[in-house]
Amino acid sequence: MTGRLLAIETSCDETAAAVLDGDGRVLSNIVHSQVEDHAPYGGVVPEIASREHLARLPGLVKAALDEAGLRPADLSAVAATYGPGLIGALLVGLQYAKGLAQGLGTTFIGVHHLEGHLLAGSLDEDGGPAPPFIGLVASGGHSALYRVEAGLDITLLGETRDDAAGEAFDKSAKLLGLGYPGGAVIDRRAEDGDDARFAFPVSLRDRRTYDFSFSGLKTAVRLAVEKLQRDQGDLSDDDVNDVCASLRKAIVEALVSKSILACRRTQVHRLVLGGGVAANSLLRSEAVRRGKDNDIEVYVPPRALCTDNAAMIGAAALARLSQGKSHELTLAPKPSLPLGG
Ligand code: KG4
Ligand code: ZN
Repeated sequence: MTGRLLAIETSCDETAAAVLDGDGRVLSNIVHSQVEDHAPYGGVVPEIASREHLARLPGLVKAALDEAGLRPADLSAVAATYGPGLIGALLVGLQYAKGLAQGLGTTFIGVHHLEGHLLAGSLDEDGGPAPPFIGLVASGGHSALYRVEAGLDITLLGETRDDAAGEAFDKSAKLLGLGYPGGAVIDRRAEDGDDARFAFPVSLRDRRTYDFSFSGLKTAVRLAVEKLQRDQGDLSDDDVNDVCASLRKAIVEALVSKSILACRRTQVHRLVLGGGVAANSLLRSEAVRRGKDNDIEVYVPPRALCTDNAAMIGAAALARLSQGKSHELTLAPKPSLPLGG
């Protein structure tokens, strides 16, 4: 595709719009996080998310076009996430995109949210990592390992059997009274903590599976916090920092060891990280360190492209459009859209 593409993302609690040119250069990438609207409830409230998307999206699209110096008529394609995600939230972005595409008479394409996370790395100015690669997507709703071959042929290797990695961060943060969402604050507090103080479990160390499990870890954190409360009353700042450091270590160990295992077993010596949890400082540094030890090239996108954004949706849309794919305007949102098997 030689023209410009508008991409929209509204699958969860970020309203986002981006404009890319046909070569994948990001001309604008605007994200409005709804975190403050959901924080009082300790998690995403689907109804609030849909209403906020509805209120924000038109302004965001206009801002993204303005920043790119374009008018709607300059667009050759419109893309939006059509799953997985919250049904009402997906509906807002998808219907908006389809309506715009119809009005402009341009191509429309629906994008899989996780394909967006997997391809965020390709937005790099140098073109990013080329397939084949192993992709780790770790976010608030998903934790999975994929094998990505040329032609965007994606195979699911393993996934979480219960909580997502981001959910483990968020639920632990809630328990520690650190607010919502918890990944970034735990990451910060962990920097000042002792990661050897609590021996939290790393589940499914079994080398025969690429699956993850984080629900046992959540229970172990709760038991450790309850014991501290029984023994000494409130937790001190140091206690909280130590829990954060120990828990971050356990989550990162699970994610990195399975990723390295997948690279070694499949003989694909390239690893790409994606998803909000890939903004974690320890995950970023450990993946690179362990990659070096194992002769694996590790690619970690900038933090802003790890958390939900529309530029990554644009990257996936361009990749699919270049294969001649597009969607009819009858495409419906799919809250639990599978990827790669
Ligand atoms: O990809 P994302 O923005 O949204 C989903 O698709 O879920 O990911 C959000 C998740 C949240 O669980 C948040 O706590 C986590 O990413 N997160 C982090 C960090 N920054 C965001 N987790 C660990 N360390 C961080 N620095
Ligand atoms: Zn996401």
